[in-house]
Amino acid sequence: MAVVALKGGVGKTTVTLGLAEAAQQRGLRVLVVDLDPQANATLGLNPKTVRFTTGDVLADARDGVAADAITAGGWGPGVDLIAAEPSLEHRNRPGDSGSALRLRRALRGVADEYDLVLMDSPPSLGEITRNGLAAATHAVVVTEPGYFALRGAEQALEAVTVVRDHTNLRLRALGVVVNRMRRTLAEHKYRWQEIADAYPQLLVSPAIPERSIIQRAEGAGVPFREAGRSGAGVGKVFDQVFGELYNRATVSASTSLGEPR
Ligand SMILES: Nc1ncnc2c1ncn2[C@@H]1O[C@H](COP(=O)(O)OP(=O)(O)O)[C@@H](O)[C@H]1O
Ligand SMILES: [Mg+2]
Repeated sequence: MAVVALKGGVGKTTVTLGLAEAAQQRGLRVLVVDLDPQANATLGLNPKTVRFTTGDVLADARDGVAADAITAGGWGPGVDLIAAEPSLEHRNRPGDSGSALRLRRALRGVADEYDLVLMDSPPSLGEITRNGLAAATHAVVVTEPGYFALRGAEQALEAVTVVRDHTNLRLRALGVVVNRMRRTLAEHKYRWQEIADAYPQLLVSPAIPERSIIQRAEGAGVPFREAGRSGAGVGKVFDQVFGELYNRATVSASTSLGEPR
């Protein structure tokens, strides 16, 4: 599952980490692949040792080589990580690394060891994001309930369609997750409805609320539930979001949900 948005700061990493936590809660085996040179998911998962990173994996790109870069996250059993580092940025120039299929090849066989592989993407449709989408079966789009929310979601879904048509026929848009929702704001409610009208089958309910505990948990490298009572509430929201996405992913894989109404 690739978590995407063509913009920074909307909550890709937060959603990746929240879904990883929800899957761990269900007893699933999860691998998080950090594809963002900013390495925020890596920070949030707090690994003890990192020998190889996604940069090494993309540089090598032999069949199944990603297995060598897997490290245990710091969240206890069930959540593993392939870490990122800033030098990964060098791989993000279009056409630079030759192929959008390097990650897919490197992950061959590796995903079989897990119930869920989550890929956190950088904030652009560069070479790295394309590699993530080419390796994924499902894409989750993240947006904020602001002025550009609908346009942002549209662009990300268009990017998914382009990758599906050119490199990865099995790719499917699974959902649009709205992050940083403040239910008391009329603007947020309006934007929510706008997305609901445009993508009734894709919008994921509930939205992720704006909560300062999210930043604290990520900075401390712990799951949301371990960051106090308000964190437990965030964890429960992600349980629901994960449940919804999981149901969609396991129900009729043939239905196309990617087109706006
Ligand atoms: N729902 C939220 N409530 C409060 N802070 C949030 C929320 N979602 C994200 N943040 C914070 O906003 C910043 C950007 O979020 P992040 O998930 O890193 O976005 P992206 O990965 O898309 O760049 C981070 O500091 C994160 O902790
Ligand atoms: Mg991020």
